[in-house]
This record gives sequence, structure tokens and C-alpha cells, in this order.
Amino acid sequence: MLSTTTPVSDVDIFDDEVLNNPYPVYEELRELGPAVHLSRHNCWVLPRYAQVRAASGDHERFSSVDSVGLDPALNERRRGGVLASDPPEHDVLRGVLSESLAPRALAGLRADIGRRAEELVAPLVERGTFDVVRDLARVFPVSVVADLIGMPLAAREQVLRFADAFFNTFGPLNERTRRSLPVAETLFDELAALMSRDNLEPGGWGEAVHRAADRGVIGEHQVVPLLRAYLVASMDTTINAIGSGLWLLAQRPEAWRALREDRGLVPPVFEEILRCESPVQVFFRRTTCPVRYEDVVIPEQAQVGLLFGSANRDPREWTDPDRFQVDRAPTGHVGFGYGVHGCAGQGLARIEAQAVLSALLDRVERIELAGPPRRHLNNVIRGLDSLPVTVTTGKV
Ligand code: HEM
Repeated sequence: MLSTTTPVSDVDIFDDEVLNNPYPVYEELRELGPAVHLSRHNCWVLPRYAQVRAASGDHERFSSVDSVGLDPALNERRRGGVLASDPPEHDVLRGVLSESLAPRALAGLRADIGRRAEELVAPLVERGTFDVVRDLARVFPVSVVADLIGMPLAAREQVLRFADAFFNTFGPLNERTRRSLPVAETLFDELAALMSRDNLEPGGWGEAVHRAADRGVIGEHQVVPLLRAYLVASMDTTINAIGSGLWLLAQRPEAWRALREDRGLVPPVFEEILRCESPVQVFFRRTTCPVRYEDVVIPEQAQVGLLFGSANRDPREWTDPDRFQVDRAPTGHVGFGYGVHGCAGQGLARIEAQAVLSALLDRVERIELAGPPRRHLNNVIRGLDSLPVTVTTGKV
């Protein structure tokens, strides 16, 4: 039973119209209270920054076990994975690739990733008109990460189809999830085969994870799920960060000019892109005890959505939050989550996105929309399907 003071909303945050533009709904939810019960999905959401950040950092009261998605049956299938476990099990899984993604290892990758970005960007710029999502954002992360894992790039299309379907399954069992389930299931096994020891190049993350199983750090049955988690988590997130970022910049010639003039702005601008258009809009948790915010109490065992996309636009935290601001440097945004589950690949994502932006900034004086962008709707990921642009070349 909900108390009479409980803020309640019957909005469906997974409805097409809301996914297309969730910001007015986020504003309503933030105004309703620090925690809001969504009657349609029988779950709670945290729409404000302070509570999202605190809950992300509080795995004892906000567990990820059987709860990162909204549907109980689908959560069961994720059981024991890095995203869906709590410490101490979580930390063992997370530890397996922590060295491969540590600043030291990433520093050694920066030059190679920069070179790859230039090789991809140069011919596109020469063409003058191209689709940012199809020709660039969907090509780059998969080639970088497939090589880091040591898996054949021939699997690219499978990986991308799997990632989109997989992210849909974190939402409710709506039409989008139902359509995604057969895709996710078919590709699940195909990807497992591609990640078998024989199919992986030596020296990559794949080998590191198989070795961890040989040493008994993790079980043999955890190898493929762990690799698949890193692969999938690194796709639509980075793809949409690049796509949304160039969408924001293509509409703001003054921002592009500022970046061309001061490359020191590239890292903070990428953070501002993640704040404004967070690729991961929501992940869920389950309360392990009643949690009180002012006069609102979320009961024990409640499913709670951390609305990263809303928290990052909360005026209680950010001045003029709906404005994309080149020099904002939004420290503390939750676009990568926070706490024990805070993004394991954020260092790599930053290198990839900054490499793409730098390769474009070196060559392009003006970037403009060449047609209307097309939004892609996914239950938890925000991004575009298509972003046609025209570029005008010019050295800095
Ligand atoms: C701009 C790109 C990216 C964004 C916006 C992003 C966002 C996120 C977010 C919000 C979470 C937190 C999930 C939670 O709290 O339940 C997360 C977790 C995770 N991310 Fe990323 N991510 C990105 C890129 C990557 C890349 C490139 C990799 C792999 C190399 C990666 C691997 C992971 C993994 C393994 C987790 C689970 C961590 C855990 O549960 O301990 N991500 N990411």
C-alpha cells in the first residue's frame, strides 16, 4: 500500500513519444518528488540528481541482483553477470579486466585509436556528405573493441544487432522488448561461439578472461558472459555518444569554432554531451530495506529506476540544464553512472570519442545537417539511427 503522500505518475517512460523526447516528462517527475511511483510499471523512479547519485553509490540499499532491468524473468537470465551482481561477487568479475582498462593500459592505446579515427574520418570528409551514425559512429567502436578483445571483426553486424536488442530487454516486456528477444536469443549463442578460446587472438581481453578462468579466479561458465558484457556495454553507449555529440555540434557553429580554436575544450565538451544526451537513460536497482526521502518512503524489495538522463538535467544541480554549453565542464554528471557499477569502460570511451572529434576538428571548418536526423528508439538507450551531415574542409 502506498501512503497518501507518495508521488505517483501513470506516465509510461518507455512509450515511443516519451522516448522520442523524454525531457518534459523528466521535468514533471522531478517536480513530483525525490522518488516517484510509476503505476503502470509498478516500479519507482528517482528523477533528481542528488538521489540518483546517492543510490548509484549505495549498493547495500540499492542492489543490482535480479534487478538491473525491469522484467523479473529477464533479470534472472542476467544473474551472476558483472552488471547484475553486488560486491563481493561483483568485484571479482570487475577485477578481471581492470588492468586492461586502467589508465596505464589505456595510455598505450591512445595513439593507435587516434590513428584509426583519422583513417576512418579522412575519406568521409573528402566525400563532403556522409551519415555520422551509419558511416562513423557505428563503425568505429566495434572495430576498436573487437580488436581489443581479439575477436574477428566479421561479427560486426551481429554485435550491433545484439547490443540494440540486449539493451531493449532492460525495459518492461513491451512490444520493443518482445521484438528484441528472438534477436537477442539467436545472436547470444553466435557470439558465444565467437568468443571461444580458439576464435580469439592471443594478447587481448579475451585471452585475459580465459586465463582468469584457468587460474580459478572466475568459473569457466563466467568467461563468455563477462566478455559479452564488456562487448555489448561498449557498443550503443559509445555509438550514441558520438552520434548525439555531432548532432549537438552540427547545430551550433559557434561551438564548433570554439573547439577548433581551443582543443583543450574537447574533453569537457564530451562530458557535456554525455550530460545533455546521456546514452544510458535508465538502469534499475532493488531496495534491500525501506528507503526514506523526506516524507516519501520506498518500501523494501521495490524496483527503482535510476533516471540518469533526468538527473543530468536537474536544475537543482545544473544551471540552465537544457542548454548545451561548450565550457560547462560538468564534473560529477552521472552519464557513466557512479559507484561500484560506474562505467568500467569510461576511460576507453573518452579516448574513442575524443579521437573522432579531434580527427574531424583537424579537417572540418563547418559541419552542418544535410537532412533531418532520425531518432532510434530503445527502451534504455538514447540516440540516433541516422544523422546526415555536410562538411566544409579547412585546416585550423
Ligand atoms: C560513452 C560511452 C559509455 C557510456 C555512456 C556508458 C555508460 C555506462 C553506465 C551508465 C553504466 C552504469 C550501469 C549501472 O549503474 O548499473 C555503465 C556500466 C558499464 N560499462 Fe559503460 N558506458 C560507456 C562505454 C563503455 C565502454 C567503452 C565499455 C567497455 C570497454 C563499457 C563497459 C561497461 C561495463 C562492463 C559496465 C558494468 C560495470 C559494473 O557493473 O561494474 N562501457 N556504463
